[in-house]
Amino acid sequence: MEQQSKPSQEETGMEQHTQQSKLITSRRSFLSRGLVVGGAGVISAGLLANGLPAFAEERSGSITKGDIAILRFLSAAEIIETDLWQQYNELGGIQDSEVPGGSGSPGYVAALSVLDADMSQYIHDNTEDEFSHFTFINAYLVSKGANPVNLDKFRTLPSSKATGAQQIGRLTNLMQLTVDTSWWIKYRSRTKNPDLGDTFPPAIPGLLKGQFPAIPRNDNDLKGFVPGTTPTIPKHLQAIANTAGFHFAFIEQGGTSLYPSLAQRVSNPEVLRILLSIGPTETAHFQTWMDKAGNAPPLTDPTNGLVFPDLNAPGGEDTQTNLIMPEPTIFLNRKFPPVSIIRPTETQGAATGAVKALTADGLFIGQSKEFFALLNQLAQEADAAQR
Ligand SMILES: [Fe+2]
Ligand SMILES: [Fe+2]
Repeated sequence: MEQQSKPSQEETGMEQHTQQSKLITSRRSFLSRGLVVGGAGVISAGLLANGLPAFAEERSGSITKGDIAILRFLSAAEIIETDLWQQYNELGGIQDSEVPGGSGSPGYVAALSVLDADMSQYIHDNTEDEFSHFTFINAYLVSKGANPVNLDKFRTLPSSKATGAQQIGRLTNLMQLTVDTSWWIKYRSRTKNPDLGDTFPPAIPGLLKGQFPAIPRNDNDLKGFVPGTTPTIPKHLQAIANTAGFHFAFIEQGGTSLYPSLAQRVSNPEVLRILLSIGPTETAHFQTWMDKAGNAPPLTDPTNGLVFPDLNAPGGEDTQTNLIMPEPTIFLNRKFPPVSIIRPTETQGAATGAVKALTADGLFIGQSKEFFALLNQLAQEADAAQR
């Protein structure tokens, strides 16, 4: 980390040249050009730059076009994550100098706290992590002479009108979600894997059958809340917090798969290191949220009929709430013994698949054609990257 933040003169220093030389001398095409490589393999970058213009693209900051495409897509995904987590933090998290904005909604916080007393801290920390993810990736892209990603012009969606939310334009919509909770069963299955074509039913079927808010849309959604040491939390408000609880895990299990999926097509070892270092933080988030979602109280929202069933009801081995560690399942081929793994990790179409999942989630309801065009373009470029 420290090494990457050194001033730019040092990046053009000897160590960098040696790395570039290694990168370039390892290429078969280099040898096929009939150039003689010295015994020590030390070649000045200048000679290569002058003599081998064909390598110019690969040599550019020593990361490939494909690596840049993968990082740019991840930056966009992290900006999107940040935008939605920011909205959760303004109402349900902790608003401080690390994650400023908003002033909190005591009713929403009380309903979230039913899932865990530390929900506000976890929301805050997840939000801060997402900020750091896109800020780092963008800074890294700039350090390699590549364009960072900026989605500011698409911050056009409305904020919640509930007291505590900032009134600013948003990239994402948390008020009309259709949350897919099949990940709950996907991670509990001992015999199935999405990479082998298997599908999974949702743990909360109702969340796939409509559009539901995961944050209070306005103060009406908080009606009936009575603060106190034992607060009164109306079922509708609790349903909103439950929806958020499952949505948190939906988002983070997506990141948990996205990083290892894309890492398989990264070329540069340092870019690989970035993906291998950020990806597992998404998994840390996911497991925390899966644990908390399991505490969402069973209920029916009287305003819209949304049902949160008892996931620990008898006969429900695939939904048992305390199975928060990935159950061993089949991997690569059914002939191998089951193994505890992240799933899916198929690399083909991973980025476009992520865009599809986020779109189906309702996160982008209200977004412009231009937004979808840009996001799809970034995804397609990432999916075209090759090692
Ligand atoms: Fe992230
Ligand atoms: Fe995340």
